[in-house]
Amino acid sequence: MTEVANLLVMPDRKIVPDGGVVAGGKGYLLADQIAALKRSKRPAFLKAAKGLQDAWSEALAAANRRDVPALLAGRIQIEDVCEACHTQFWYPAAAAQEN
Ligand code: HEC
Repeated sequence: MTEVANLLVMPDRKIVPDGGVVAGGKGYLLADQIAALKRSKRPAFLKAAKGLQDAWSEALAAANRRDVPALLAGRIQIEDVCEACHTQFWYPAAAAQEN
């Protein structure tokens, strides 16, 4: 998971390879729009990736201490950080409609 966040922030690394289709639909950005947004809002993207790394290391520490309540809370927090990045960089329009 720590490595996933590192891969996410590699400049211009594509999350979906050329010719691959990003899961999407109405309100979802296309791969080249996502790539442009990742470049223009790089600090926000780095912050979102760091959020994933932080949430993951908290969950890992909780697992190592066998702290189940903290682990469950961490799982929810990890979902939140996934969503926080996706709503900015993957489906901002879809997210805006839901709110
Ligand atoms: C720092 C930003 C960021 C974080 C954090 C993040 N993602 Fe994503 N994710 C993206 C972007 C951007 C896309 C859209 C695909 C693209 O860029 O080509 C995506 C796409 C996806 C996809 C679809 C891939 C496909 O083939 O269509 C899945 C599944 C996914 N993310 C799961 C997750 C999960 C689970 C987490 C949390 C553990 C997470 N992501 C955290 C940025 C992020």
